[in-house]
Amino acid sequence: MTAAGLKSGPGGALRGTVRAPGDKSISHRSMILGALASGTTTVEGLLEGDDVLATARAMRAFGARVEQEGEGRWRIEGHGGFTEPSDVIDCGNAGTGVRLIMGAAAGFAICSTFTGDASLRGRPMGRVLDPLARMGATWLGRDKGRLPLTLKGGNLRGLQYTLPMASAQVKSAVLLAGLHAEGGVEVIEPEATRDHTERMFRAFGAEVIVEDRDGVRHIRLPEGQKLTGTHVSVPGDPSSAAFPLVAGLIVPGSEVTVEGVMLNELRTGLFTTLQEMGADLVISNVRMSSGEEVGDITARHSQLKGVVVPPERAPAMIDEYPILAVAAAFADGPTVMRGIGEMRVKESDRIALTAAGLTACGVTVEEEPEGMTVVGTRGGNHPVRGGGLVHTHGDHRIAMSHLILGLAAQQGVAVDEPGMIATSFPGFADMMRGLGGDLSEA
Ligand code: S3P
Repeated sequence: MTAAGLKSGPGGALRGTVRAPGDKSISHRSMILGALASGTTTVEGLLEGDDVLATARAMRAFGARVEQEGEGRWRIEGHGGFTEPSDVIDCGNAGTGVRLIMGAAAGFAICSTFTGDASLRGRPMGRVLDPLARMGATWLGRDKGRLPLTLKGGNLRGLQYTLPMASAQVKSAVLLAGLHAEGGVEVIEPEATRDHTERMFRAFGAEVIVEDRDGVRHIRLPEGQKLTGTHVSVPGDPSSAAFPLVAGLIVPGSEVTVEGVMLNELRTGLFTTLQEMGADLVISNVRMSSGEEVGDITARHSQLKGVVVPPERAPAMIDEYPILAVAAAFADGPTVMRGIGEMRVKESDRIALTAAGLTACGVTVEEEPEGMTVVGTRGGNHPVRGGGLVHTHGDHRIAMSHLILGLAAQQGVAVDEPGMIATSFPGFADMMRGLGGDLSEA
């Protein structure tokens, strides 16, 4: 992919079987836990996107030996802790990378300075720094804890922390710091978020106690847990699989299968919602891989209907609302999405950019402070016009979502900054072309 824009246009049906790229959340965690552990960790199926590669470089800077052995195959030699990096750690575009690494680094009496690209430097880090400071870490950064910032850790106290927002990144940062906190830590989660850190801690030999008390999860990491290197097989990313699958649903005559998609129920809210919209989405060949359920998902072109998405489902599909909004544009009637204020502090303000992008393509969107309603046109027999130039503000998911829309609209859609797609889905354009999609440089 080049610095030029990318455009997609309406063409024939999409057909074929593809493999989902490795899960981004699990790929970051495999690098970080591998570096913190004692001994060798081997990873297969790692997502070699820019975000994860930035985390790999960071782990080298903290003293681990990190080597690529083949496509998606990596080897990490950890020595049971972090040493002080001699230079600034640049996490690129990766919120997950920087927030989890700060949590891990806080456990050690070392000083580290973090930065990132313009998007990451604009994102709130206070949500992670607040609990870390309560545990005894100190930091100095820009207003509201924005990057660049310097963190000094070590001698941490234990903490019982109730998450003020549904964020697996914040939960994970506290758990990672808790590995070296006196008395351990307990995170209380009023709304369940993705549990990959808890699962991976167990795979690396740590004890994690999870109790459900009246629907509220209490996650306790007792003091003195040690991580030992292991093998991690990274399952396919449901957040990436969403793009070819929604394309299969909205382009007439299509049938698309994505193999090896992780089916962790804290990640599959989009698939449930699409099925409620009437999508012909079939899950088959369900199996276990490295402690996660995976399956193959087939999407066939479907007439969708608008739905009200339950707000409590938001944590299980938070990254998928832009592509859901695209599916909703082709549905019969309005799709109401509420309780999604967290979307405004992702790689971009995703509510604003989804609304702007869809509006530029002739779709009616009503934006709310913590939600949006997309008025689907299919029922009124007005096809989606398309034809917009979408400003992505460097957000990979905004770019991919609108390129999918262009495959099914009357006129094609162009996006700027397509290079950012490589942060999470480097093979996106080639995969969509392989399925028959018309994607070209704009
Ligand atoms: C992630 C958690 C989510 C998600 C992000 C990945 C993770 O962020 O949006 O893409 O790997 O823990 P929040 O924890 O901020 O909701």
